[in-house]
Formats: sequence, C-alpha cells, structure tokens
Amino acid sequence: MNIKKYKTSEERIVQASENSDALKLYIETYGCQMNVSDSEVVNSIMLDNGFALTNKVETADVIFINTCAVRDNAEQRIRNRLQALNALKKKRKGLIIGILGCMAERLKEQLVQEEKMVDIVAGPDAYRTLPQLVKQVETGQKAVNVLLSREETYAEISPVRKDANNVTAFVSITRGCDNMCTYCVVPFTRGRERSRNPESILREVREVISEGYKEVTLLGQNVDKYNWNNGEVNFAHLLKMTAEINPSVRIRFSTSYPQDFTDEVIKIMASYNNVCKYIHLPVQSGSNLMLEKMKRGYSSELYLNRIQAIRKYIPDCAISTDIISGFCGETEQDHKDTLALMEKVGYDFAYMFKYSERPNTFAARNFEDDIDEKIKKRRLNEIITLQQKLSLQSNEKDVGKVFEVLIEGFSKKSDDRLFGRNSQNKVIVFNKEDAKTGDYVNVKVNSCTSATLLGEILK
Ligand code: 5AD
Ligand code: SF4
Repeated sequence: MNIKKYKTSEERIVQASENSDALKLYIETYGCQMNVSDSEVVNSIMLDNGFALTNKVETADVIFINTCAVRDNAEQRIRNRLQALNALKKKRKGLIIGILGCMAERLKEQLVQEEKMVDIVAGPDAYRTLPQLVKQVETGQKAVNVLLSREETYAEISPVRKDANNVTAFVSITRGCDNMCTYCVVPFTRGRERSRNPESILREVREVISEGYKEVTLLGQNVDKYNWNNGEVNFAHLLKMTAEINPSVRIRFSTSYPQDFTDEVIKIMASYNNVCKYIHLPVQSGSNLMLEKMKRGYSSELYLNRIQAIRKYIPDCAISTDIISGFCGETEQDHKDTLALMEKVGYDFAYMFKYSERPNTFAARNFEDDIDEKIKKRRLNEIITLQQKLSLQSNEKDVGKVFEVLIEGFSKKSDDRLFGRNSQNKVIVFNKEDAKTGDYVNVKVNSCTSATLLGEILK
C-alpha cells in the first residue's frame, strides 16, 4: 500500500479551515525571497497550533506583517501600512497585530512604544514562539521575542506554500550572514550564519517535487558558505545532490558572494542540464576604494576573475547583480568605475539602489553619509539607464533563438498569453496555444524589450 507520509500545503490549509473556532491568520510579506520563505514557515507553525489561514485581511483575527529593514524606504512603507491597519484595529475589537522579521529585530521593544497598534514583535529566529506570543497578547500584554539563535534553521518544519504558483518553490538552506559589509543591517537582523541539515533540505526538495513543483530555488544570504559538519557537505555537493533528485526539475540558487563562489560550483552548474544557467552575483560597486570601505573583501579584479570563470565554463550563463550608488565618500571617479565595470561584465539584469544609511551599522558609526541626495539620484539614474541599454543588448542577442521555457502563469497584460522563464531566468511572453502552467515548452523568440522576450511556442 502506498502510504503518504506528509500532507500537502493545500490539505493542511483546508483541514485547518474546517475548525470554526480557529483564529484566522493573515500574513503580509515585504522584502526579499527569504522573507517569503519565512512566512511559509510561520504558516506551518501556526497551522500546527490550531490557527487557520485567510486571504482576507478584513476577516483576520491575527495579522502578521513580515518586514524588511534593508533600506529606510522599506521601513517607511511598513509604517504607512501600519497606519492603515490601525483603522481596521479600531473597527475590530481584539484584532492582534504582529510585526515579524528584520524591522522587528532592528527596533525591538521600541516598535511597540512607537506604534501603539502593534501587539507582537518577533525576530526571524523567534517564529516557533509565535503561538505563545499570541496567547500572551490575549491576556492583555504586549509580547516581544527578538532573541537570535546560532542554531535555528527551522529544519524539520515543512513550509506551507499558500500563495505560491505551484510551479516554482523556494527552499532555504542557510540563515543569517557573517560578512559584516559596513552598510548592511542584515547581520544584526538575521544573526549568525548557519546551515540547515542537508537531509532536511533534500527531504523538502523531494516533497515539493512530489507536489508537482518543477523548479526549486535554494535560498540563503550567502549560499556559497553552505557548510555541514565541517565541510562534509559544501554548497557544490548540495547543488549536485538536489540536481540529481529529478532531471526534469530545475534547480536555481540565490544569493552568491563573489569571493566564496568557487569553480567547483561553476563546474556542477555546467555539468547538470537542470541546474539553471543564471547567477546573481552582487558587486555593489566597481570602485576598489568603495569596495574596501564597504568591507566586501574583494577587488573589482577578483570580481572580474569570477566572471571570467563563469564565462569559461558556461558561455551562455546569464549574470545579474546588485549595485549601491552614493555610498559614503563616493567620488565621480568611483561612480565611473561602477559604470565601467557594468559595461565590462555586460549584466543581463541588475537591482540598483541609492545608499540608505542604517542605524548602528559600521558605516553609520564611522563614515559620514555625505553624498547629496540629488547626486545620489543622478548617479542612480545613470546606472539604471546604462543597465537598460545592457539588458536590451542582452535580449536582442536572444531574438531568433529557441529556449526551453517553464510556464509560470498568464501574462499580466492578457489572458491569451502565458509567461515563463528560460534557464537564464529571462521572462518570455508567448501565445497560449494548448499549453498550461507548469509545462515545459520550446519557445522561439521573435522580438524583445529591455525587460521581456516575446515569442511563440514551437509545435
Ligand atoms: N543601502 C542601500 N542598499 C543596500 N543594500 C543592502 N544594504 C543597503 C543599504 N544600506 C542592497 C545591497 C544588497 C541588496 C539586498 O540590498 O545591494 O545586495
Ligand atoms: Fe531580506 Fe535583507 Fe530585507 Fe531582511 S533586510 S527582509 S534579509 S532584504
């Protein structure tokens, strides 16, 4: 007899909703993919403790906002959202509002003092205690748990993927970050770097595959530092093991760190068809002076050496990056070095930001945030304009080519068209024909914009 060992996300959600006494939880998530994954862990913990999940904020008994603190504007957005929720709280007696994640960890008790509607503040390592924190609020107290842990990886918890597309799943493999880049709040909000037990990672990957997912992204602040049992399993080994589970399931990973990104990993990528040919390799700046001040631990030369290695083993690999403009003391020459490096690499895609000073980081304590807002903005615009040109050039090279595309859903603009991604992570939009979400199809690219490839399914 075929005994099913675990329940799917959907089965767990439905089962919980059958309990009419269950408190209904609504979670809103901001920030990075790690946060989306963490919200899925929170879903799982809450379901196991008798809560039900709802998509409708107006019907919720408990609202959790999973927050980001990486830039000031991320926090401002959340503060505005809290004002809107305050109106709801006035209407619904007993409504419980919790702030989770990086902003909770950064501000701690201060958050309950500043935002009167907030009942719970829980940092990224405190999610197992959320059911108790809710109980504490029910007795009329505020509840704060912002303890960071050196061990917590939520390893054995099966995340409940409530808002997922059922095609692409994210599986976390490391938590925290030990890099201490001088501008970054993450080491303070997510704590020390730690790796999740490989057995539990492989189990979760098998689970999502058996639920029908076709793509798995291994997630961590710095996946290259994955390390189990003093090197017994490193990231390259883990990548190989996940790739070998099922050759028709794609594997991606994010984020890589330039000097930890090894040739061993590149070779695994090159030798498995189902490991996607795409690397997100944040550079932050093209200036060695800035890189040093950021304590990134590499020079632009070392970075370019990694790019060369990628191009050598995987000529068709797409590369994206993160760039910060206007870091402390950045001169016009430093800025030009960034533009020059972008041209040299020819990035396919980039996430680009203005430097935002974060309280208590090394940079906030030791350097002056001295680049005028107007100059930051102008430099950022130059970076964005250059990247649009590079993205267009990259996409134009793909016109006429045929790619295997995994369909993720309907195009935003029309129900007659589908969208998916190729191995290089580029979005391709094409006519529906009789294909459906979750299928692999061969698509010929006919035209492009700087953001999207447009094509048709080959019969
Ligand atoms: N200001 C602007 N951007 C930042 N990032 C991290 N910290 C800051 C900051 N203080 C960017 C980096 C990082 C990405 C996730 O966010 O580029 O790679
Ligand atoms: Fe993610 Fe960083 Fe934002 Fe935390 S601060 S949610 S780790 S992007």
